[in-house]
Amino acid sequence: MNQTPRKILVTSALPYANGPIHLGHLVEYVQTDIWVRFQRLRGHECHYVCADDAHGTPIMLRAWAEGVAPEVLIEQMAREHRADFAGFLIGFDQYHSTHSPENRELAERIYERLRDAGHIVRRTVTDLYDPEKKLFLPDRFIKGECPRCGAPDQYGDSCEACGATYGPTELRNPVSVLSGARPQPRENLHFFFRLPEFEAMLREWTRSGHVQPEVANKLEEWFGAGLREWDISRDAPYFGFEIPDSPGKYFYVWLDAPIGYMASFRKLCARTGLDFDEWWGRGSSTELYHFIGKDIVYFHTLFWPAMLHGSGFRTPTAVWAHGFLTVNGRKMSKSRGTFIRARTYLEHLDPEYLRYYLAAKLGPGIDDLDLNLEDFIQRVNADLVGKVVNIASRCAGFIHRHSGGRLAPTLADPGLYAEFSGAAGKIAGCYEGRDYGRAMREIMRLADRANQYIDAHKPWLIAKDPARHAEVGAVCTQGLNLFRALITYLKPVLPATVERAEAFLAIAPLRWADLAHPLLDHAIAPFTPLLRRVEPQAVAAIVEAAGPETNETPGGPSSDGPAAAQIDYERFAEIDLRVARIVRAETVDGADKLLRLTLDLGGETRTVLAGIKSAYRPEELVDRLTVMVANLAPRKMRFGVSEGMVLAAGPGGRDLWLLAPDTGAQPGMKIK
Ligand code: 2FM
Ligand code: ZN
Repeated sequence: MNQTPRKILVTSALPYANGPIHLGHLVEYVQTDIWVRFQRLRGHECHYVCADDAHGTPIMLRAWAEGVAPEVLIEQMAREHRADFAGFLIGFDQYHSTHSPENRELAERIYERLRDAGHIVRRTVTDLYDPEKKLFLPDRFIKGECPRCGAPDQYGDSCEACGATYGPTELRNPVSVLSGARPQPRENLHFFFRLPEFEAMLREWTRSGHVQPEVANKLEEWFGAGLREWDISRDAPYFGFEIPDSPGKYFYVWLDAPIGYMASFRKLCARTGLDFDEWWGRGSSTELYHFIGKDIVYFHTLFWPAMLHGSGFRTPTAVWAHGFLTVNGRKMSKSRGTFIRARTYLEHLDPEYLRYYLAAKLGPGIDDLDLNLEDFIQRVNADLVGKVVNIASRCAGFIHRHSGGRLAPTLADPGLYAEFSGAAGKIAGCYEGRDYGRAMREIMRLADRANQYIDAHKPWLIAKDPARHAEVGAVCTQGLNLFRALITYLKPVLPATVERAEAFLAIAPLRWADLAHPLLDHAIAPFTPLLRRVEPQAVAAIVEAAGPETNETPGGPSSDGPAAAQIDYERFAEIDLRVARIVRAETVDGADKLLRLTLDLGGETRTVLAGIKSAYRPEELVDRLTVMVANLAPRKMRFGVSEGMVLAAGPGGRDLWLLAPDTGAQPGMKIK
């Protein structure tokens, strides 16, 4: 515990500014945030920066689709991302954007240094040109089969099936996403980063403990296959930074994305007076860690250290990859109600439940981890509420009733306390090595010991004998000191609960070093609940809100954002709208929002699950005419198959109106 303070800079991968934060993202931010809080708790100087990854084709496309400028889209996303992260208690020191002056300046500087050192080469290559739209097609505008594994429907830059990265002209059977035309090969000028020149440096770097063993093995494979030059330019139209000496050419988003780590830190320096060069200069003695997902290892362990080295900056101390999140054992999915947005979770549940559950599941490797919702409820309630918080609630009352709210001057069982404080080294080792699962198991083992201590000494029994009240005070003082050790260990994971516990114990914010001394002869505050149980209904509500049936409930105009991309008349005409008579309407067991409608389409009968229960009682719908999409493919939903969709409008809740055709309409009639 008497280490000299370290100087540590930590980053999490920058989330793209074209979509909301979901639980899959949170694995990484929670993992990083716990590590950062742990370092600070230990007394080290630790800065944590992140930013929105704002550039690139998907963001440009989404802005086009929404009819807004990309700058407007990324502003709005940044606001949402910040709020979501704050909601999950992710304590960035700086949250910035790659579309910032700091990032432009640093990207230009790094590019110019690489160029001047001969690490950039310009070459004419054959690109794919859309003859109908008359532009060079960026990678994301082209789809085809992966040149490595043959997977169909892959974008022009990388394969989601096998992880290969390649150039768009290497795709087999390409088509333009914009026009559907077969792209034509044409000559075009590109800029390449000469990665192979860094092979020796990278081999050395990756072998000296900067990456996890699984990642080092992967890197050996990549070295074996031979490193390739990296295409860092893209043509207009592109949302990004123009390459300084080449109008019309832009830096590929992945060039300036990791530079965003530096840019965010630079912004922090400007705010706080930190010295940028001390942290990023070559030979820096500070530590730099990047937490990332396993899908972006190539960028962070090859391109990024090489770019830094080639432009005269320091390289990372380590890059740490984690696995992906599954929910109930499967990939997150909208149709199963398991594609859960951060916001949806926060509307129903305490962020610390998830922080703890993820911590309990996280190890140092790159294995995927599963959020099993049943297990989530059970484990959080059993561990946090049943074991940890329970100790405080069991002891607090007695201290107030029989000891005037004051802890005893000595410990009843110093040996047991020493066992608790003596676990500090082991638990710190687990946190440091990102083996949080092991840390949580060790902490819960101690929590069991604390509860056993209280069970064995039965303060509720001895309290009945006034002569033994001092003994009650001693037992509960011991219990609260064990509790205090546990919350010190849990503080990186549960910062809010521990803050409430600190208020209850009437102590200054706990530090790791405080474990050395028990809290004695000290007045505590009245006990207030520190953490409530997870309500199973709240978890069900999240699944319900994330599930497909709610998509059928039209939201209010403001909640749905601007209109979607235009479609042409042909596409619209494909939608077969028909008059339907509701012959039966019934509630659906277990579904809060759905009604099961039986619809007569003039001879044909359909069953449709409609999210309109908040607005209609089933009996008032029978015999009404409405409008349905008759050619929507049947969809398997949680509560059965839905064979179409009825049209309704309104902000939701009670204000939801089923569309009704003119009187005189007949079931089965086409709406024109
Ligand atoms: O994969 C992603 O989500 C990227 N936006 C991560 C970028 S991390 C860093 F390099 F900027
Ligand atoms: Zn592939």
